[in-house]
Amino acid sequence: MAIANIFDLRELSKSKVPKMAYDYINGGSLNELTFRRNEEAFRKILLKQYVMRNVANVSTEIKILGFKQNHPVLFAPVSLHKLSHEAGEIGTAKAAEKSGTTMILSTLSSTSLEEVAKASSSPKWFQLYWFKNKELTKNLVSRAEDNGYQVICLTVDAPVLGKREKDVHNSFNLPSGIELENFTGLEQSLLPDSGLGEGSGLSKYVSDQFNASITWNDLDWLQSITNLPILLKGIQTREDAKKCLDYQIQGMVVSNHGGRQLDNSLASIECLSRVTETVGKELIVLLDSGVRRGSDVFKALCLGADGVLIGRPYIWGLGAMGPEGVVKAVEIVVNELKEVLAMVGCRSVGEVSLEYLEEKTIPRF
Ligand code: FNR
Repeated sequence: MAIANIFDLRELSKSKVPKMAYDYINGGSLNELTFRRNEEAFRKILLKQYVMRNVANVSTEIKILGFKQNHPVLFAPVSLHKLSHEAGEIGTAKAAEKSGTTMILSTLSSTSLEEVAKASSSPKWFQLYWFKNKELTKNLVSRAEDNGYQVICLTVDAPVLGKREKDVHNSFNLPSGIELENFTGLEQSLLPDSGLGEGSGLSKYVSDQFNASITWNDLDWLQSITNLPILLKGIQTREDAKKCLDYQIQGMVVSNHGGRQLDNSLASIECLSRVTETVGKELIVLLDSGVRRGSDVFKALCLGADGVLIGRPYIWGLGAMGPEGVVKAVEIVVNELKEVLAMVGCRSVGEVSLEYLEEKTIPRF
């Protein structure tokens, strides 16, 4: 059967990726309420069609932080790409280049940030987890900066790791040969006291090293050790959006980590308006969690996002068809976006606005 949409890639990846890895990728936390709500909430927002507006040429081009992109779909940071395909993060980086987009590399990647930097020349950002060991955190930031990463994307919704029960049932562990390569070869003083551990304990061991005590005032320190723009990933409230302005952060990702962290919270798209209303056009606002269709991208743009990240969709592509599948995932979503733009009567991303949404279906919280 030919691949028609992102869900076909998911099904194909299910047949190719080992169950333990597939479940790790697809799990949400606890009851998976937020995980499911992410997709469902998009479907409740309805579009308005304006006709005869000359949409013979539709452009999806955008600019984020001064960088031009062919379209507004970026790659969310996802740990351990080698669980899905041996090409791992290098395959994804090459696919990002082919797709004209930016890849955000996870701290918990299965290929080192240095190797990924060398793999392609398209823009890359580095996702940072803040570790208890400050020197380790600094080491990661300096290496990202030295290797040409253009933005630090600090994930702030994971002071502790959400319990993903599928992983508990499967006793999730890292297959031999797959490692968290940003930590291999580091001097002992940078690593946690007893080293990195092995096998099943490894992911948990590293996440146990996340610093749950950081506050907004600690951002000063991060700003003092890097010249790169900083985005905070995992913002959901008006209050925190306002703090991003107060603390001179360059932008944020409205996100609930794809429903993998706090369960029983709103869908990410339901949080978007209150954030964009708070920060206006002053800061970059991206959105992730639940984007599966071009129409989802369009809805996020209407609600004020500058772009979106996809997580699972490109990982399904990677699992289904290797790097080609990653390119395919982007192609599907971007073609759907073009189709929506044309049908609603919109020629470019710059023209997208709230007027394309049915007022009564706009989520307001
Ligand atoms: C993630 N995500 C994530 N986020 C992050 O900041 N650092 C990370 O290492 C990871 N790792 C990770 C692994 C896997 C398997 C998934 C599915 C997700 C969250 C990710 O960046 C993003 O927020 C979500 O994936 C977006 O939701 P969708 O597109 O997967 O619905």
